[in-house]
Amino acid sequence: MIEPQEIDRITEISLKRLRPRLEKRFRSYAKKSPDDWQSFMARLDKHFPRLFRLTHQLYGEQYDFFYHLEELLENLTQSWINRTAELKTLDARREAEPLWFHSNQMLGAVCYVDLFAGNLEGVRSKIPYFKELGLTYLHLMPLFRVPQGQNDGGYAVSSYRQVNPALGTMDQLAELAGELRREGISLVLDLVFNHTSEEHLWARKARAGEPEFQEFYRIYHDRSGPDTYEAHLREIFPDEHPGAFSYRPDIDQWVWTTFHSYQWDLNYANPAVFNRMAQEMLFLANQGVEVLRLDAVAFIWKQLGTSCENLPEAHLLIQAFNAIARIAAPALLFKSEAIVHPEEVVRYISPQECQLSYNPLLMALLWNSLATREVRLLSQALRERFKISPQTAWINYVRSHDDIGWTFSDEDAARLDINGYHHRFFLNAFYTGRFPGSFARGLPFQENPKTRDVRISGTCASLAGLEKALNEETAAEVDLAIRRIFLIHGVILTIGGIPLIYLGDEVGILNDYSYRADPAKTEDSRWVHRPFTDWNRMEKRHDPASLEGRVFQGLKRLINLRKQNPIFSGNVIEMIDTGNERVLAYVRPQGNQRALVFANFSEQTQTIPGNLFRLYGLSYSFTDLLDGQQVPMRDLDLAGFDFKCLAS
Ligand code: GLC
Ligand code: GLC
Repeated sequence: MIEPQEIDRITEISLKRLRPRLEKRFRSYAKKSPDDWQSFMARLDKHFPRLFRLTHQLYGEQYDFFYHLEELLENLTQSWINRTAELKTLDARREAEPLWFHSNQMLGAVCYVDLFAGNLEGVRSKIPYFKELGLTYLHLMPLFRVPQGQNDGGYAVSSYRQVNPALGTMDQLAELAGELRREGISLVLDLVFNHTSEEHLWARKARAGEPEFQEFYRIYHDRSGPDTYEAHLREIFPDEHPGAFSYRPDIDQWVWTTFHSYQWDLNYANPAVFNRMAQEMLFLANQGVEVLRLDAVAFIWKQLGTSCENLPEAHLLIQAFNAIARIAAPALLFKSEAIVHPEEVVRYISPQECQLSYNPLLMALLWNSLATREVRLLSQALRERFKISPQTAWINYVRSHDDIGWTFSDEDAARLDINGYHHRFFLNAFYTGRFPGSFARGLPFQENPKTRDVRISGTCASLAGLEKALNEETAAEVDLAIRRIFLIHGVILTIGGIPLIYLGDEVGILNDYSYRADPAKTEDSRWVHRPFTDWNRMEKRHDPASLEGRVFQGLKRLINLRKQNPIFSGNVIEMIDTGNERVLAYVRPQGNQRALVFANFSEQTQTIPGNLFRLYGLSYSFTDLLDGQQVPMRDLDLAGFDFKCLAS
């Protein structure tokens, strides 16, 4: 064990020893492109100490640590050499302007390649649509080679270097990335790094009995290992298999599978796994991917006697990947997917770890506020848990391709006299439509009879009441549902961070129950909110009399509100205490300007006292940013589900 004061000294010695080896090995490249080589070496000098400290903490006690470290440096040098000139230009631009993602111009969207547009060529043909919406960030759901049949919507990856042949080729992906970039849109992909599919070459070799590859995973001869671990583990997909391990009759062994039994968890305690995944990461960066969504970050490190979620080493690993990116693909950013307790979510967010993160708390509490017509939990969460480093940003969304879990903190709820455990029963009953008077039409996901835990599936429109209103009610309820959709999108577009739309929600797509007829999907209710895009319906967005047109044009108005007002850039907010439990209110300050945002989460008109404007707006005159009208300094009525932005 090396003492902390020793680490600086050994870091320096290590770099002194390794640097000449790289210079020797890549001599011809250094001669050919001296400036480029210099810039690389400068970044290596700058970030090596951090990379060394992190990898040393993770792997320093292994006898072959230096072997792996040297290999890692060689790989990342080679990867930099392979990077295209266009991407190197992007690197320089991003390094000069690291906070580019704070701009109010940022607008994100996410879709499945096949469900949205058939294949990669189809996605390319939709670039005009992306521009019409105003996108600057496009997340394509996993598009890699996967097993036939069940593959968890692409999250069981058989090769990180091959596109699913049904969708296209890696060359097409790289071309698409370039074309999107030239249109001002950054390509976002997943790095599914907690597990591979059982058909990945590494897993196949492990199954064939190759010891080197068996160490890539966590494989056990009998139940004694799994049993001792499982005493402390949460069940993630209990419908599919109990616990976290799956028995493989072909090898007569137990494999660690946190999610589905065909998704094998990688063993990051093995430095070879770390190095190989670093290579896969840089390979994707070199195709032109600008943001990697780090999938299931909470689960990547395992330690006996713990829950094996959110362990300190998980953070060290991501920070080490981050240091590698800074050296060999500086434009690359990480987005964390940690759908866990709010205290744990923020631990992944920092310029040295994930610069971007989903905001699952905001997402869940927007739905909570719609169900309860009360904003107490949401306001409290925004006041206490929204603030993150100014060099990072939230990804704010109302729903994703996954289920909605009620990940608010029970302790926070208790301070408002809300019993979190019981409140979740209410929310689950509400969003599955079982609660009397509920407007929502969602489905339960992964109901666990042991813990009574459930999560919720459903499209934004179906959860917001549109499905029920159209099928069972009147035009008045349709109107309310649409207003709910605008309300929660209004918040994600103005609150600070990058708003992310699930494509289809912008025209109000409803749940699609046809997944039940597909054996590969029927067990997983999340497919209800991942429908095929019907482009005939999408065309109706131009017709303001159609439902699609109403939703689309209303959302476009809110998107324009964001894009036309630089005050919505950055991530600073101040909460307004309205004294009214139905109204969410916050200030977006920017220089000497302030925008006041009000969102009424109830059907009833609410009145905001005029003196609040002076108090929080620091002014006597205000403009309504949505209609350009001057607003007099007196009490303001907010109609049911009204969303207003006033600027001073
Ligand atoms: C992530 C994905 C989810 C997937 C899981 C396992 O949480 O968002 O869709 O099922 O990882 O890969
Ligand atoms: C994530 C979340 C979990 C979610 C799962 C699959 O890892 O932790 O809540 O259900 O992915 O959707």
